[in-house]
Amino acid sequence: MTSEHVREHNRVAWDRQVEDENEWTRPVSPAQVADARRGQWHVVLTGYQTVPRPWFPASLEGLDLLGLASSGGQQGPIFAAAGARVTIFDNSPKQLAQDRAVALREGLQLALIEGDMRDLGVFADGSFDLIFHPVSNVFVPEIRSVWRECFRVLRPGGMLLSGFMNPTEFVFDMEDKDLFRVLRVRHSLPYSDVTSISEEERERVLGAHSPLEFSHTMDDQIGGQLDAGFVLTGFYSTPHHASITAKFNIPGYFATRALKPAQIEP
Ligand SMILES: C[S@@+](CC[C@H](N)C(=O)[O-])C[C@H]1O[C@@H](n2cnc3c(N)ncnc32)[C@H](O)[C@@H]1O
Repeated sequence: MTSEHVREHNRVAWDRQVEDENEWTRPVSPAQVADARRGQWHVVLTGYQTVPRPWFPASLEGLDLLGLASSGGQQGPIFAAAGARVTIFDNSPKQLAQDRAVALREGLQLALIEGDMRDLGVFADGSFDLIFHPVSNVFVPEIRSVWRECFRVLRPGGMLLSGFMNPTEFVFDMEDKDLFRVLRVRHSLPYSDVTSISEEERERVLGAHSPLEFSHTMDDQIGGQLDAGFVLTGFYSTPHHASITAKFNIPGYFATRALKPAQIEP
């Protein structure tokens, strides 16, 4: 299966997640938007853990903010209500429609663009002050281009806030973990829904319409950001919101705060 087939599959799969009301597709409430307009807001990058407020600039007023693979009517409307000029970029038309519905409901301005997180060619260099990229690079087979593109489209001094999966989450047999709540080491890393298990098993355990997932090495997650030119200025881990791994204090997710230096050394 080519990388483009993965993208096609995941577009349909995330559209389907919207129909099935997956929790990462459910829009924020009018009360949450009203609070954000008053400066009372929080968002998640990883699981249910809110991002520390000091990770953001003191005010979002007038900042150009890109929500990268971040639709679903969740963070975008909050950032817009808090004063940012928000662009949401995502692969799923129905996820983007969730943002459109909230924007209409609340009278918010959101630019909504469909595309692949690995190619931000639609944006000029230095278009954004802040990129918010919640756990979603698990849905593409390779991620180094994501970091390079983020670096390119940020202004000098701009910030990239990212959430991503702990690859360890993928070493366990999925059926044992998800259905029987038992951890049995089975897969070597990196894991791929395309090559590590059969299609029959994936469809039986996860469902035919589940998005395809891929683990990534920490070299690609952290090293990839550093190689793109970022300086890491923040890090935390979060338990997985649903996996039994949380019971054993195995982090399900990591979050990074990365800065594009104001002055880039030659
Ligand atoms: C878990 S949801 C993230 C959105 C959610 N608001 C959150 O808080 O995490 C993952 C998102 O990644 C998007 N996605 C998957 N593959 C993508 C790709 N190749 N390019 C851009 N977005 C993609 C999906 O459409 C989906 O909206």
